[in-house]
Amino acid sequence: MLLDREGQLETLLSAMRSAAAGHGSTVLLEGEAGIGKTSLLREFAEHADKGCQVLWGWCEALFTPCPLGPMQDIGQLLDPHVAALLDQAAPPERLFPALLNVLQHASVAIVLIFEDVHWADNATLDLIKYLGRRISLLPAVLVLSLRSDEIGADHPLTHVLGDLPSASVTRIALEPLSREAVTVLAEQAGRGAADLYRVTEGNPFFITELLASGEAEPGRVPDSIRDAVWTRLSRLTASERKVLEVISIVPGSVEPWLIRRLLGVEAEALVDKCVARGLLRQDDQGAVMFRHELARQATLDRLPPNLQRSLHAKVEVAISQLPTAHASALLSRRVHHAAGADDGARVLELAPQAAAHAARLGAHREGASHLATALKYVAQATPELAAQLYEDWAYEAGLALHVYEPVIEAHHRAIAIWRELGRIDKIGRNLCKLARLHWGRGEGQP
Ligand SMILES: Nc1ncnc2c1ncn2[C@@H]1O[C@H](COP(=O)(O)OP(=O)(O)OP(=O)(O)O)[C@@H](O)[C@H]1O
Ligand SMILES: [Mg+2]
Repeated sequence: MLLDREGQLETLLSAMRSAAAGHGSTVLLEGEAGIGKTSLLREFAEHADKGCQVLWGWCEALFTPCPLGPMQDIGQLLDPHVAALLDQAAPPERLFPALLNVLQHASVAIVLIFEDVHWADNATLDLIKYLGRRISLLPAVLVLSLRSDEIGADHPLTHVLGDLPSASVTRIALEPLSREAVTVLAEQAGRGAADLYRVTEGNPFFITELLASGEAEPGRVPDSIRDAVWTRLSRLTASERKVLEVISIVPGSVEPWLIRRLLGVEAEALVDKCVARGLLRQDDQGAVMFRHELARQATLDRLPPNLQRSLHAKVEVAISQLPTAHASALLSRRVHHAAGADDGARVLELAPQAAAHAARLGAHREGASHLATALKYVAQATPELAAQLYEDWAYEAGLALHVYEPVIEAHHRAIAIWRELGRIDKIGRNLCKLARLHWGRGEGQP
């Protein structure tokens, strides 16, 4: 049962009703980690008119986010043509109008939920901008949830949100639960509420974790949520704990086949137990995820670094054996795990491919980020690859990051290597870029 959220639920439902009448809008659902954004959206999805379609897409905490992550989740359910365009990594100028067309001609109001957009990739940010500017004329609601504590003034999302037309944007800022609500939750769990409000400051995740850990007595309350999560883990059987620890290596949801590959078929019963205990959630397709990202992080932090590396390697190998291993959505995941495994050769193989995919989708920040991951292993690269990485990073970073010095430095590094290799064509190209960069800085003026 959700406490203290009636007004916010009504705001969401009224945005949905307006959309059904042809007046769409964007709803920004903001609040600190664990404040109850996902819970409110679930409640909303349950209360939404049965005649409207609610679709969920997620942004994940990968080192480098997957391009158009939320659309990869939604595409298939929304429209086969949009799904096909996503599979082909079609450029934004084809994909975005196709999506718009589907929303315009939908027979029912559509609610698109993009969860955790503080982790959104560049292409998703472009899509938000594109839809957000047109939404008022569509029978659709775009709901964006974000952790307000994760985005500062210079976060790219801040600029995107600032550019949305204010007349069609509704902001819902979730506040901590009231003292009364905390007392209700404590009583439901059969515990005293003393000190709970002060220690948790009304953050529902902290409250539910502390209550579940059984350590909510005054003076015995763990002083950090990590302690609460660890305490809860320590109550499990060793095999249940192992399931959670292994699953914690994967950000977002873990598909059933991956669970089998990592833990064997016998783990399925243990996963069910963890779901029943409320530690994991399972979706309709059987994929599981931690009930909360904070809990996943805290669980992962328990693992010694060498075990984390070997689990990352295992996940990467498992994904690499899929027939679709080179699909863009999987490439980002593979780079994440190859980097986590500290496997330089694998990163050097995969990160440039992932960067090229991201760049094709207009996600230049992610392109630069993948290439930066590869550059960590530049000492293991052939001279040709090293020079190309510097050159490509300079290009992507120049487009996305608006930094001059590091980009100029990267071009110089590329030039030095191309010179040793006698590649005059490449030297010329980099010199042209450098000239433009210096000119852009005003160094060409008399
Ligand atoms: N209004 C509420 N009343 C009671 N319990 C709540 C309420 N909101 C959230 N909770 C509980 O708090 C926990 C955290 O909530 P939730 O996962 O929705 O937070 P979140 O804001 O989505 O977090 P994150 O930023 O990490 O995604 C959940 O276990 C949920 O059951
Ligand atoms: Mg959430």
